[in-house]
Amino acid sequence: MEGRRNVKVGMSLTAWVLRQQSLHPGARGELSILLTHVALAARMIAHKVSQAPLTGLIGQAGNVNVQGEEQAKLDIVADQVFLDAMMTSDLVSTLVSEEREEPAYVSEHWGRGHYTVFYDPLDGSSNIDVNVTVGSIFGIYRHRPNDRGRLTDLLRPGADQVAAGYVMYGASTILVLATEDSGVQGFTLLPEVGEFFLTHPDMQMPEVGRSYSCNESRQPFWSDEVRRVVARFREEEVGGSKRTARYVGSLIADFHRTLLKGGIFMYPGEVEKPGGKLRLMYEAAPLGFLAEAAGGGAHDGRQRILEKVADTLHERTPLFIGSKVDVEEALRILNP
Ligand code: AHG
Ligand code: MN
Ligand code: MN
Repeated sequence: MEGRRNVKVGMSLTAWVLRQQSLHPGARGELSILLTHVALAARMIAHKVSQAPLTGLIGQAGNVNVQGEEQAKLDIVADQVFLDAMMTSDLVSTLVSEEREEPAYVSEHWGRGHYTVFYDPLDGSSNIDVNVTVGSIFGIYRHRPNDRGRLTDLLRPGADQVAAGYVMYGASTILVLATEDSGVQGFTLLPEVGEFFLTHPDMQMPEVGRSYSCNESRQPFWSDEVRRVVARFREEEVGGSKRTARYVGSLIADFHRTLLKGGIFMYPGEVEKPGGKLRLMYEAAPLGFLAEAAGGGAHDGRQRILEKVADTLHERTPLFIGSKVDVEEALRILNP
């Protein structure tokens, strides 16, 4: 696609965003501005994460969020940073965060084509204190003329996203994003100058990968079909050798590896908890948008993630995401 031919390794995120905008003559530059505010939030959260052990920001905050999960101090800090960065863009009217029960209505811009942003401000919180990669995930929807932030306006299929991505706070800070027609692009932060530079142009999910990724300690809670899926990936050979198991416990880290190397990540539903653990609107849908843009697949076991319409803001969903061949194999076993 036109947009993909205009990328050059090393170009800054700012240059890439403006180049993308120039490919859409009618564009008013709003999404460009919004993406630069996402990058601002990423830089600020990256700094907070890297300094956390020095500034007392590791550990728990001592309260429980809407998910019924203990909040880490960084969950709360990252949430506020992200909200402030979105609010100051003056282009976002509604923000839905994993850390907030209700939407945050930050501006009265209705009907002027402004945006709603769903976000997981700090993904992989259980890994903060052990210095393992954590991240942020975001999904952006452009308002339709009659949208007014009602629940029915907010609960849209992931296919309606105009942009989605994640930030990975690891050895490097990497921002991976896609718009409706840009392809998946990965940018690495140069902290000294505070700018992201294109390092992973036009990311494509390998057809098949050697790793399978799931929390196998959940085996006692799975259905027989899910057990058969995981057993298949554990036992089958790929390229003449057995697959390898990889599980970081931070969704964005497990997804980033899968995007680069192929394979499959699974967080299945369970007999007692058919929705599983991961949240549709700000974990599965943004990553599903990227997975499909990179030629991979994202499914809940019965339906494409991008087709699902949630009934509630924080709805959980089973997730099978990765190389198309691997996701399709999982679906064949799940739906004999
Ligand atoms: P969050 O920290 O935003 O709540 O997300 C944690 C999620 C996800 O990052 C990861 O894939 C999953 O929890 C790991 O769950 P288990 O510890 O149950 O394996
Ligand atoms: Mn998460
Ligand atoms: Mn989180």
